[in-house]
Amino acid sequence: MNDFVVEPGGRMQGCIRVPGDKSISHRSIMFGAIADGDTSVSGLLEGEDVLATLAAFRAMGVQIEGPDNGNLLIHGAGMHGLQKPGQDLDMGNSGTAMRLLSGLLAAQSFDTTLVGDTSLNKRPMSRVIDPLGQMGASIDAAEGGRPPLHIRGGGKLHGIHCRMSVASAQVKSALLLAGLYAEGRTTVTEPAPTRDHTERMLRGFGYEVPQEGATISVNGGGCLQACTIEVPADISSAAFFIVGALISPGISPGTSPGSELLLPHVGINPTRIGIITILKQMGAQIHLEKTREVGGEPVADIRVQHSVLKGIPVPGDQVPLAIDEFPVLCIAAACAQGQTVIQGAEELRVKESDRITAMVAGLKTLGIAVEEKPDGMIIEGGSLGGGEVDSFDDHRVAMAFTIAGLRASKPIHVRNCRNVATSFPDFVNLATQAGLSLKVEAA
Ligand code: S3P
Repeated sequence: MNDFVVEPGGRMQGCIRVPGDKSISHRSIMFGAIADGDTSVSGLLEGEDVLATLAAFRAMGVQIEGPDNGNLLIHGAGMHGLQKPGQDLDMGNSGTAMRLLSGLLAAQSFDTTLVGDTSLNKRPMSRVIDPLGQMGASIDAAEGGRPPLHIRGGGKLHGIHCRMSVASAQVKSALLLAGLYAEGRTTVTEPAPTRDHTERMLRGFGYEVPQEGATISVNGGGCLQACTIEVPADISSAAFFIVGALISPGISPGTSPGSELLLPHVGINPTRIGIITILKQMGAQIHLEKTREVGGEPVADIRVQHSVLKGIPVPGDQVPLAIDEFPVLCIAAACAQGQTVIQGAEELRVKESDRITAMVAGLKTLGIAVEEKPDGMIIEGGSLGGGEVDSFDDHRVAMAFTIAGLRASKPIHVRNCRNVATSFPDFVNLATQAGLSLKVEAA
């Protein structure tokens, strides 16, 4: 177990290339593995979550070269080329790996068992088990629809029309993956837009994915053609640096220049940029430069400067588009003038930790007035003190409270930061390079 201890103050400056997008990295391996031909991937996130997906496909007989500096060469096994693994597939901390693989494995000819760590074992899986069951899948879970999942292969799946009750890209993707193998058409209607990397990438592999408004479909029985994938930098990782630069005025406010950071080659898919929309409404100076498209995904260099932020009611339609960024958004809100109201965000309770409880607890420790609500919280902007906060083993909570050090008046000791390696193994180095004064302590 590692703790981070961050000294108060400082500013963020320079050019920081954050690692590859986690969602896109997972999908590049999954789709490359079942494609015909060799898929080459660059910019892959070599975080523990993605490595769990990689290990799972290797265990199912897929030949994969790398990762080497973010490069992979996946020798696709074809739609029906996966083999029964010799052991349980360990998804570690990764909800994306477990839920997406449930859809894919429900359609295979062999049985599999998916296991996870303590955090993943608490997360709800009925949201994929139930609709996959309607497609003909057979998946047994532990009590309350939690992992481990025992997936029985060999059955026949048929297409359904699922009107999803939760706005979840993982559920949508699990159904579309199962739909590739199902008889007939599988259709998913989303209650609100969620990240659309699955749809974009399937099209990149030559699969038709018709979409009408909120309704997305695939017809079963086709195949994927290998392609080349360039994974952009992860906006969810960039978000820590964006907020860091916004909240830190400089070493001595008024005399030294404020923070200014350039974050190159970040994915700015419209279904992921809720954090930028929300922060801009709070008064943030964030500029997207050299906007371009790389392999079906929009990308830009993000320039961000220290800004005086004001609290706002976070618009409900932005919540699913910023779902992973709420921990660091809470830090921005704590540093803003006035009140920020977060509602309609009950999904935060079933992430890698209960992020509402985790953020409320830590903010209170740091001296911020915050009121917990079932579906969010109300944060009064104020002055951040210091103290010991728990990450609840959640990578994004850990990084958010570390970034808070830039505006704190005393050191912040963040407990249990080991899981930062799931999404951002190089966080400490890059944060230090950008200007944070940070130490890692063995707990
Ligand atoms: C993800 C979808 C989101 C997000 C997660 C990654 C994906 O989860 O929180 O980090 O890659 O599809 P939900 O589908 O549970 O909202």
